[in-house]
Amino acid sequence: MGKVITIASGKGGTGKTVFTANIGAMLALRGYKVVLVDMDMGLRNLDLCMGLENKVIYDVSDILTGMCRVRQALIRDKRFDCLYLISSPQHRDDGEITPLHMKVLCDILRDRFDYILIDAPSGVDNGLMLAAAGADRAVIVTVPEYTAIRDADVLDKLLGDLGIEDRMYVVNKVKAELMTAGLAPGLHEISDMLRSNLAGIIQYDDNILIAANNGVPIVFKKDTYIYENFSRIADRVISEPGSGDGEAEGEEDEQFSTKISER
Ligand SMILES: Nc1ncnc2c1ncn2[C@@H]1O[C@H](COP(=O)(O)OP(=O)(O)OP(=O)(O)O)[C@@H](O)[C@H]1O
Ligand SMILES: [Mg+2]
Repeated sequence: MGKVITIASGKGGTGKTVFTANIGAMLALRGYKVVLVDMDMGLRNLDLCMGLENKVIYDVSDILTGMCRVRQALIRDKRFDCLYLISSPQHRDDGEITPLHMKVLCDILRDRFDYILIDAPSGVDNGLMLAAAGADRAVIVTVPEYTAIRDADVLDKLLGDLGIEDRMYVVNKVKAELMTAGLAPGLHEISDMLRSNLAGIIQYDDNILIAANNGVPIVFKKDTYIYENFSRIADRVISEPGSGDGEAEGEEDEQFSTKISER
């Protein structure tokens, strides 16, 4: 039975889509059956990040409104044994779609995939309700800025109120030198502000942006610190709830110092 993981943020532009693409690719490289579902209705991006934009015919809205079957909207990424994308529509038309529709879709996908990764839109409105409707776990992607952390906290509480007990967060676009100089909130401060567990950090790196622009998940390139980062985070993203494996520990700080000295 597959697991549904919603990736959300509250604030826009924190890196949800890039994160979804790379964790999905990482899990597919490990041999899991994975489907990525873009729920950013009207602002779809995941197809571009995965380089699959020319393959989109049907989208998630077509499935949910009965225009097509699930399998017709599944776009296979041929670079992997089992990685699929369900795109979101180019125009926002979620009027007829309810959280119940989403739950039904998630149940269908659970039968066919090990992991269903849902890329949520920013904000905390109807789009988020749909993206979170079938979730077993939520990963909140934030960045080291007070505005984003506050939004992440609001989202965290909201997801808890929606009944998603299993939540974790990732701090993306980290610039270690700003943190150590006290010019950006540090990890301890962020963890004091958020109630869920830290699943990991991802440094700000132009290569992540360049890879996304080229439709290539950066985790394709092994033996890099970015690959190692995503690998560790993927372990936590798929860890069993309550096992204690879902929380980053001091090793992340050590990794930070290594990165600083590398620069
Ligand atoms: N760690 C990183 N280092 C450098 N650039 C990054 C990193 N993570 C994401 N980006 C870049 O930041 C931008 C926003 O990323 P992305 O589209 O994934 O965010 P998002 O949270 O999905 O945005 P939206 O709220 O609009 O859906 C993109 O240009 C992406 O390439
Ligand atoms: Mg996005």
